Amino acid sequence: MAAGIDGTGDDGMGEGTGEGMREGMDDGTGHSVGDGVGGRRHGDGAGPADRARARRRDEAVRAAVECGLLGPGTPLVGLLDVRGIRESAAALREAFEAVVAPGTPVLHAFAVKATPLVPVLRLLHEEGVGAEVASPGELALARAAGVPPAATVLDSPAKTGAELREALELGIAVNADNPQELDRIDALVGSCPSPRSPLGIRVNPQVGGGSIEALSTATATSKFGVALRDEGAREWVVRACLDRPWLTRLHAHTGSQGIPLSLMAQGAARTYALAEEINARAGRRQIDTLDIGGGLPVNFGSEATAPTYAQYARLLAEVVPGLFDGRYGLVTEFGRSLLAKQGTVVARVEYTKSAGGRPVAVTHAGVQVATRTVYAPGAWPLRLAAYDAKGRPKSGPEAVQDVAGPACFAGDLLAEARALPLLEPGDHVAALDTGAYYFAHHYAYNSLPRPGIYGFAPDGSGGVAFATAREPQAPEEIVTEAGGAHASALTTLRASGRP
Ligand SMILES: Cc1ncc(COP(=O)(O)O)c(C=O)c1O
Repeated sequence: MAAGIDGTGDDGMGEGTGEGMREGMDDGTGHSVGDGVGGRRHGDGAGPADRARARRRDEAVRAAVECGLLGPGTPLVGLLDVRGIRESAAALREAFEAVVAPGTPVLHAFAVKATPLVPVLRLLHEEGVGAEVASPGELALARAAGVPPAATVLDSPAKTGAELREALELGIAVNADNPQELDRIDALVGSCPSPRSPLGIRVNPQVGGGSIEALSTATATSKFGVALRDEGAREWVVRACLDRPWLTRLHAHTGSQGIPLSLMAQGAARTYALAEEINARAGRRQIDTLDIGGGLPVNFGSEATAPTYAQYARLLAEVVPGLFDGRYGLVTEFGRSLLAKQGTVVARVEYTKSAGGRPVAVTHAGVQVATRTVYAPGAWPLRLAAYDAKGRPKSGPEAVQDVAGPACFAGDLLAEARALPLLEPGDHVAALDTGAYYFAHHYAYNSLPRPGIYGFAPDGSGGVAFATAREPQAPEEIVTEAGGAHASALTTLRASGRP
């Protein structure tokens, strides 16, 4: 393997970051991007595991160029660090094992929306992580990956009657989003005293939002769940449970990126308090499981994994001790925090130019793989790393430059005015921390093809092994998906036409 980028030479199996809450970790957004040198100044508390992950990433980029996965004909790839994913899942399991009473049933259900790829779901399943699904497509992916119904949770806010029926027939856990959905579940459950599916109600603890409004699900007016502090809503939830002995769960997802940990913990605390009230009024432990959702923010500003699952689990244990004392089973639904730092999208620099005195590198990664960053760069800045034509970390003096994508609008930029070693045609640029909600979420602007996605791992003899997680999209597939089989449908349409 090539030399590590920081020369520490550790094996990367150690704990990711320091213990305890560090200053600044509770802002929910991590740190600002701009740690420079091609994304390679670790700073900000990167631990041995973080540095090892960065070295594996550098190795994988070099190997991808060397073996031709990445080249003039395939100028864009997504890479997933298989060891990193396993380590991330282990960190999650261990964090909660450390705080729950022995014997507590715990299901970590990966939010499939974060990385909807069957091989990723299979890998996580092998690591003891189930699936949280929010659409028929996501359920199909989880099933294709072999995730069993007992490890699957259905949460969407717009479940159709057919979806509910399927979930109940399969025995998948369902969290009802609203009173109308509960009516539908009533009809499906009928007089059956104990349906196969664990059933719950999603509540909105209304603890407030974080720094990214679009991802704040516990605001006063959020569309999700029953808004607990609205007049009469709490009593409605209590009554709904007392009237239905089969309602045994409460669910709250307080929000995603941008939500401070303290707010997430408050959301869990309010949900716990409601469960206690229901159980007291029922005179038995009717609510036996609390689903605390996902939402652990990811640090997009540096290599450090921060905050960690361990920090969040300890905070929960401090703020809501009763949550972990063994009286409640636990479900979590983390997405971004499991996968973001395990993914990298790498693009070839096709051309370079200068406009208004600023260098511009035109690459093959833009809005199609980094949609949020391109449309909302202030909320979603990404670290970039520069590599040379052979895939080696690029050094040299930095120049402030724009890193552009291939799409035909001016804002299609991975980064504007970013200091990086001056990129040249044939070089490569990597967008880091893109394993969740990025390259697996293709946006088909300009009919740009979905890139191939490859998992990588050490090959056991000093090199890197790759496995295809998703094939690159071929032009014929683009045509098929764009109505290719119906080319004459509109020109031949007559008044009486029916599909
Ligand atoms: C209900 C629910 N659970 C879990 C998640 C995953 O959140 P994150 O990827 O931030 O962990 C989401 C994200 O939208 C969600 O809506």
